[in-house]
Amino acid sequence: MRSSKALSADPITPLVAGARSALERAAATIGLDLADAELAHCGHNVGFTLPGAGLFARVGPPGSQDKARNAVVCSRYFHQQNLPVVPPIEGRHALASTAYGPVTFWPLLHPVDAPVDFRWLGRTLRRLHDLPGRGMPPAQRTSRRDLGSRVGRFLQSRPDPSVRRKIEALVRELDECALVLPTLAVGPVHGDPYPSNVLATAAGYRLLDYDGSGIGHQLLDLAPIFAAHKRFGLGQADLKAFVDGYGSDPRALPEFGAVLRLRELGLVTWLLKFAGHLEAYYDELEWRLATLDSTDDWTDLGHGVVDAAGATEGSACRM
Ligand SMILES: Nc1ncnc2c1ncn2[C@@H]1O[C@H](COP(=O)(O)OP(=O)(O)OP(=O)(O)O)[C@@H](O)[C@H]1O
Ligand SMILES: [Mg+2]
Repeated sequence: MRSSKALSADPITPLVAGARSALERAAATIGLDLADAELAHCGHNVGFTLPGAGLFARVGPPGSQDKARNAVVCSRYFHQQNLPVVPPIEGRHALASTAYGPVTFWPLLHPVDAPVDFRWLGRTLRRLHDLPGRGMPPAQRTSRRDLGSRVGRFLQSRPDPSVRRKIEALVRELDECALVLPTLAVGPVHGDPYPSNVLATAAGYRLLDYDGSGIGHQLLDLAPIFAAHKRFGLGQADLKAFVDGYGSDPRALPEFGAVLRLRELGLVTWLLKFAGHLEAYYDELEWRLATLDSTDDWTDLGHGVVDAAGATEGSACRM
């Protein structure tokens, strides 16, 4: 295993600055005081706590309006169906579109220190998959075109022929694996049910992050946990607890190999979005490319984002 590296928060300053200005714009529109706003998280979205108002603001990256809209609609629906989620703040706070990206507001949760209960996660996902899903929008996945432009931007910033060849091979494999998708059953999905999207609170666990929620491929919704087991050190006992809670084991299905591979490849292409922003991700990308055909662990650099304190933390890794 390689040794861990601490990532500096500095290179993400432009991302945070853009998000902060979007939050200021949204707050001005609805008359919200930002005096006590604090940066809490920088992942796919940038999160701010607003303790005085009891709110958590999520600022999505440019072009993620549809995901933000889905998140609001789906979390409202899940909440109405009594799932342990966080409903959006309604009314004028629901969703503000800014020139930078969408801003959504949520009740501020206060986490408690407790390990993720994987049986709970499996059970909760089963309940979600069994919902009728009436009125839910189609789940938003990164389109092939968006992936193509992300790859293009990355290769422009890093014209390295050997990396180029590996990424081109990876995109070809992604296309092959994606052929399985039209054969899969669709229904309500969370979109990214994995440990970092579970928050323990004094009132119980909450499943967060509905950017990928909607009507989608349910088998794909099981891949994050199995990828966490294969690549990010999730133990056998936790995996078993998840499968027991869910009530069935997808590994028995012939399609699951391609589905899990899609997730793994997505864990690599997700990193391309940091092109030009964060040097440490280039090492991480090379490491994942080099080990794609093995079962090597990918936890070394935290497989994720840089939080406000500059420490790494687990993150959703999407295509
Ligand atoms: N309503 C909330 N109250 C308090 N903290 C929250 C709330 N929503 C999210 N958070 C915190 O922010 C973190 C990231 O939230 P979320 O997963 O929604 O964002 P994200 O941008 O998708 O992150 P990532 O890309 O890392 O998955 C959570 O793990 C949690 O610590
Ligand atoms: Mg998340």
